[in-house]
Amino acid sequence: MSRTALVLNGPNLNMLGTREPANYGHETLADVSALCSRTGEALGLDIEFRQTNHEGEMIDWIHQARGRCTAIVINPGAWTHTSVAIRDALVASEVPVFEVHISNVHKREEFRHHSYVSGIAVAVMAGFGTHGYALALQHVAHLHKGQEQ
Ligand code: DQA
Repeated sequence: MSRTALVLNGPNLNMLGTREPANYGHETLADVSALCSRTGEALGLDIEFRQTNHEGEMIDWIHQARGRCTAIVINPGAWTHTSVAIRDALVASEVPVFEVHISNVHKREEFRHHSYVSGIAVAVMAGFGTHGYALALQHVAHLHKGQEQ
């Protein structure tokens, strides 16, 4: 069974650390990448961590996960609220999806309350800050253990 968890980040998340710190905190995307690597190592998961501002590139990465990755942990950024194409790609990948948002989107503007991804995700993390990525990976490993028994 694959032990590779693909951690994907959508638009503007390359700006973490300087972008709206009141919503997203002071950690950079490099910090989040290091957190995911450390967490993956402790859990026995191989982590591939990526970010793009280009929707087509994100869709290609999702397609390439099919049959190769055990989980997709994705913070789709604003595409969460706009993109049927990202949702369709995730469904087509047939890889279990874990949706992560650094901020609690339900506490924010109304347009952030709807997600095209949540309806096809195994689980959703919102408002745990960057720790939400680690929590999602812990759950991936937990489910993995259950499947091995
Ligand atoms: C976000 C929330 C989205 O509404 C926003 O567009 C983002 C980041 C989060 O991590 O809290 O870019 O996904």
